[in-house]
Amino acid sequence: MTASIPEQLLSWYDRNARDLPWRAPPGSAVPDDPAWPYRVWLSEVMLQQTTVAAVKPYFAKFLSIWPTVEALAAASDDDVMAAWAGLGYYSRARNLVKCARVVAARGGFPSTEAELRALPGLGDYTAAAIAAIAFGERAVVVDANVERVVARLFAIEEPLPKARKAIRAAADTITPAARGGDFAQAMMDLGSHVCTSKAPRCLLCPLAEVCAGRKQGEPERLPVKPPKKQVPERRGTAFWITRGGGAEVWLVTRPADGMLGGMRALPDDGWTARQDGAGPPPVAGEGRSLGAVRHGFTHASLTLEVVALDAAGDPPGEGQWWPTARLGEAGLATLFAKAAALAQAAVD
Ligand code: ADE
Repeated sequence: MTASIPEQLLSWYDRNARDLPWRAPPGSAVPDDPAWPYRVWLSEVMLQQTTVAAVKPYFAKFLSIWPTVEALAAASDDDVMAAWAGLGYYSRARNLVKCARVVAARGGFPSTEAELRALPGLGDYTAAAIAAIAFGERAVVVDANVERVVARLFAIEEPLPKARKAIRAAADTITPAARGGDFAQAMMDLGSHVCTSKAPRCLLCPLAEVCAGRKQGEPERLPVKPPKKQVPERRGTAFWITRGGGAEVWLVTRPADGMLGGMRALPDDGWTARQDGAGPPPVAGEGRSLGAVRHGFTHASLTLEVVALDAAGDPPGEGQWWPTARLGEAGLATLFAKAAALAQAAVD
């Protein structure tokens, strides 16, 4: 008899698993270490919409500063936001601290998918991934990579996002009772390295023989995607306000509930709240344009002009003078780090 899909996949994973800092070696028991679910949770939150390469240094940094969930629970929101700066999707960092506090207060992570799902910031995918990887539970773990593998394996023709129900149901039929974490991560590795969205490497695939999408001859067509939405173009202005001949720059902390909420930033003209990007500068005076930076958000593409101003006293509103030589420690979100880099290059 030929091996089943999970058997074939797990045997491929035993030989090909990526060695990642948040992973146990294939085939090993769930580590008996109270910090293990914390590491898995931290990695899974970081890996949402973010590549393995981008996550690795942040994962190491967070573990060295906050080695346990109790340590992270005791951290200040500001410190966590600053350490997260550059990783994007900052609501994850806000929920991370909230979740750490809930978990520390209840004495550790719950182990079932339903209880995990109730924690701050944990959606269906993350709850299933933690149940499987941190606790070895049987859980149907479907991220974008797994979605692609399953849509091809079963030749699911329905377009996304409607196809998600059928994809999940099909993934359920191949999820084994044992080795839940290995199976989930094997599917992820297969999706990211073999069953790639363009030019899938079917010759290397352990499931090629049973893949309905491959039999049809055009696996790269699946899953069928909805037409791409055009994101709106936005324009805005950020202000590089300095004193002491450029020794210090004025930084603000963005309102907690808006875009990039709670992050340190350069002051701007309020473009995030408006469609047109026009608005008054936060200080009076003649500005000097230093050029513009571009940044892509999921909901908009932004061109942010950077305008330099010399301060005559403190600008209005809350903020702080920050030494420009130590701007790397301010924890600016990527958009403002780009604007600050442009300003520093322009004034050097
Ligand atoms: N993406 C999300 N979770 C992952 C994991 N555990 N391993 C590899 N890639 C992932």
